Amino acid sequence: MSWLKHAVRNPIGAKAIMAVTGIMLTGFLVAHLSGNLLIFAGPQAINAYAEGLHKFPAVLWVARGGLLAAFVAHLYFAAYVTLGNRAARPQPYAFNNTVQATWASRHMVLTGLVMLAFIIFHLAHFTWRVTDPEIRAMGEFDIYQMAIHGFRQPAVAGSYLIAMAAIGLHLSHGIASIFQTLGLNHPRYNRSVRFVGPLLGVGIALLFASIPLSIYLGLVK
Ligand code: HEM
Repeated sequence: MSWLKHAVRNPIGAKAIMAVTGIMLTGFLVAHLSGNLLIFAGPQAINAYAEGLHKFPAVLWVARGGLLAAFVAHLYFAAYVTLGNRAARPQPYAFNNTVQATWASRHMVLTGLVMLAFIIFHLAHFTWRVTDPEIRAMGEFDIYQMAIHGFRQPAVAGSYLIAMAAIGLHLSHGIASIFQTLGLNHPRYNRSVRFVGPLLGVGIALLFASIPLSIYLGLVK
C-alpha cells in the first residue's frame, strides 16, 4: 500500500483521488437524477422505483458504503489541497491574471459548502424525515407525495433551487478539471473539453431543478 501513502501525501495524488471520487459522486448524481425524473411519469412509476431500490438491502448498503467513502475522501482531499495551496502561498498574488479562471473555478469551496449544507438538509428532509411531521406520517415509499408536499412550500423549493445553482457551478468546473487532472485533454480537443464540464454541470442542475420548480408552479400535482 506504499503507492497509496505516496499518492495521498503529494498534491498530484490528492487531485487524482479527487478526480476519481468526483467521477463516482457524479455517477451517483446521474443515477439519482434518472430515478427522480420518474416523477414526471406519475406516482406509480416513482414509488415503484423507490420500492425496487429497497428490495436488495445488501446491494443498497454496499452502494451506500461506496458513496459515503467517496464523499468523505472527496471532502478530505478538498481540504488538503485547499489548505496546502494556502500554506504554499500565504500572500495572495499581486496580479491575478489567471485568464482561464472562471467564477466557478475560484469558488469551488463555497459551492462545495453549499452542497454539503444541502445534502445534510436533504437527508433530514427525505431520508430521515425529521424536518416535517407530515412527511414523517407518509408511507415509506410514497416519494411522490413527499415531493409534492415538500416542494409546494416556497422556502423548501427555493432552498433546493439555490442548492441546484451551486451544484451546476461546482460540476461545471469539477468535470472540466477531471479531464485536466487525468490528462485526458489534448490540444486538438481542448476547445470541446472546455464545453463538456459546463454543458454536463448545467444540464444536470437544470434537470434536478425542474422537479421542485414544476411542483412549486403547480405543473405537477
Ligand atoms: C430535486 C432534486 C432531488 C429530489 C427530488 C431528490 C429526492 C430524493 C429522495 C425522495 C430520497 C429518499 C429516497 C428514499 O429514502 O427512498 C433521496 C435520497 C438521497 N438524495 Fe436526493 N433528491 C434530489 C436531489 C439530490 C441531490 C442534488 C443530491 C446530491 C447532491 C442528492 C443526494 C441524495 C442522497 C445522498 C440520498 C440518500 C441515498 C440513500 O438513501 O442511500 N439528492 N433523494
